[in-house]
Amino acid sequence: MKTSNDPSPVIRRVAEQDVSSAVAIAGHPVHAMAVHFPIALAIAVLGIDLTYWWSGDEFWLRAGLWAAGAAFVTGVTAGLVGTAELLLVPGIRSRAASWTHAIAAMMFLSIIGMNWTVRLLEPEAVIPLGLALSGLGAVFTGLAGYHGGKLILHHGVGIMVSDQE
Ligand code: HEM
Repeated sequence: MKTSNDPSPVIRRVAEQDVSSAVAIAGHPVHAMAVHFPIALAIAVLGIDLTYWWSGDEFWLRAGLWAAGAAFVTGVTAGLVGTAELLLVPGIRSRAASWTHAIAAMMFLSIIGMNWTVRLLEPEAVIPLGLALSGLGAVFTGLAGYHGGKLILHHGVGIMVSDQE
């Protein structure tokens, strides 16, 4: 007898698909190892801008330029590995949650890229434009990280490593 808890045939087909990581080193998924760098650096840029606003010390302008650049470069690197997982693993690309995470991550990369560009071209625009972008970037890092964590903890994505690794 069918109960209301039985998944639909479509959901059952998605649940049966492989969700193991295809890009891993010695059994460790590379994307999960790489994302800590952009997350930490993007939050650091916000702290750096607030310190610059408070102190006016130009050291923090240079620190913000380097932190924003490093957040963008490490974020794009992590994003490329995440995109490979998304495209290569059937159980990852068939889950809507993976695409939600990818959209939040792309928004984050666009914001941190713009933040870096503002600092390269117009350092004096850091207050208020750079600071506003840093705040927005911190929000989108949180959204991307939250949805990435959901993929692991709720969907069991990337916990096992695929034979194709
Ligand atoms: C646009 C490109 C991206 C795609 C397609 C993508 C895709 C994925 C996938 C498929 C997973 C599951 C784990 C795995 O298979 O390795 C994941 C996890 C995760 N992603 Fe992304 N990702 C992208 C960019 C990012 C960026 C830029 C960040 C950081 C801001 C990020 C943060 C996370 C986090 C925190 C996890 C959970 C890791 C863990 O708890 O161990 N992702 N992502």
